[in-house]
Amino acid sequence: MRRVRTGRFPLALAAAIFAAALPVTLWAGGYFGASDKAQPPIRIPSEVAWTDSTIAAATDGDAVRGLILARRCVRCHGEEGFSDNTYIPNLAGMDALSFWKQMQDFQSGKRTSSVMQGIVADRTQRDFADLAAYYAMLLSTPDPQSKGPFPGPRPSDAQSDVASQLVTLGEGKRGIPPCQACHGPAAYVKGAPSLATQNENYILTQLSAFAQGTRSNDINLRMRTITSQMTPSEREAIAKYYGAEMGVLPAATSRGK
Ligand code: HEC
Ligand code: HEC
Repeated sequence: MRRVRTGRFPLALAAAIFAAALPVTLWAGGYFGASDKAQPPIRIPSEVAWTDSTIAAATDGDAVRGLILARRCVRCHGEEGFSDNTYIPNLAGMDALSFWKQMQDFQSGKRTSSVMQGIVADRTQRDFADLAAYYAMLLSTPDPQSKGPFPGPRPSDAQSDVASQLVTLGEGKRGIPPCQACHGPAAYVKGAPSLATQNENYILTQLSAFAQGTRSNDINLRMRTITSQMTPSEREAIAKYYGAEMGVLPAATSRGK
């Protein structure tokens, strides 16, 4: 590095400020349309931002009305919110904020699904809140009498080790935070659903979709960044771990119990 002599300092400083400001100006011009050239549209991950008013809208639903609307969801998401098909998510007990955000994102096209986008097309924000209130109230454990596919088969010991490490501790070297710091049960962040009763195949599909960027509705790229650091076999191990209901306890280490 060259040393800046005191006498020249103001000039060097001005040059440095100019150099730093230039990309910002170009960036702002691009984003705010200041330039004459056609710019690509702004890519935001979701039209939902967590403010007092969106939180209020998402959480003041009428669960009884939600129950009636949910008759249309039963054939795929199950009578009690547990699906018969492990590629379809369980919705029982799902956090209302997360539920509401996903419905909004399907409707705005920020999250793509050929099935769900058609289903939400004519629904209102009120409907989303009512459905969210209903599903949030459903018991989050499956009926022991039911023969549904959840919980699925347990992972191998080697897979359990890989998964419980990432779920409870993450991996600092690759910048992977512990999953349970956001998805429970140790802690939750706004809009992150519990994965404790989610289906293996659904989780695996979502992890791969984030890794490939075909699902990109996560605010601040949280999940796209994390999954891009994971190997396919780690994603598989984690999906199996949660799908076997091993994510219910914090720091669940798992072998042969
Ligand atoms: C024909 C089957 C089908 C029907 C009917 C259906 N869904 Fe879905 N739903 C799916 C599938 C498949 C997905 C996963 C989409 C994907 O690929 O990401 C999904 C995803 C969702 C999600 C996202 C869950 C998560 O964990 O992110 C919510 C919420 C949801 N559906 C709510 C509903 C509601 C409410 C209804 C009724 C109004 C409904 N669905 C009807 C098949 C269906
Ligand atoms: C910093 C917080 C944070 C961490 C750490 C985190 N997640 Fe997430 N995750 C989120 C949020 C927020 C969402 C919801 C994204 C959205 O808005 O659609 C999400 C969504 C998901 C989904 C989709 C769930 C659904 O119902 O569609 C899966 C699966 C998932 N995360 C798995 C993981 C795994 C596995 C790990 C650990 C390797 C992990 N996450 C770590 C915040 C986090």
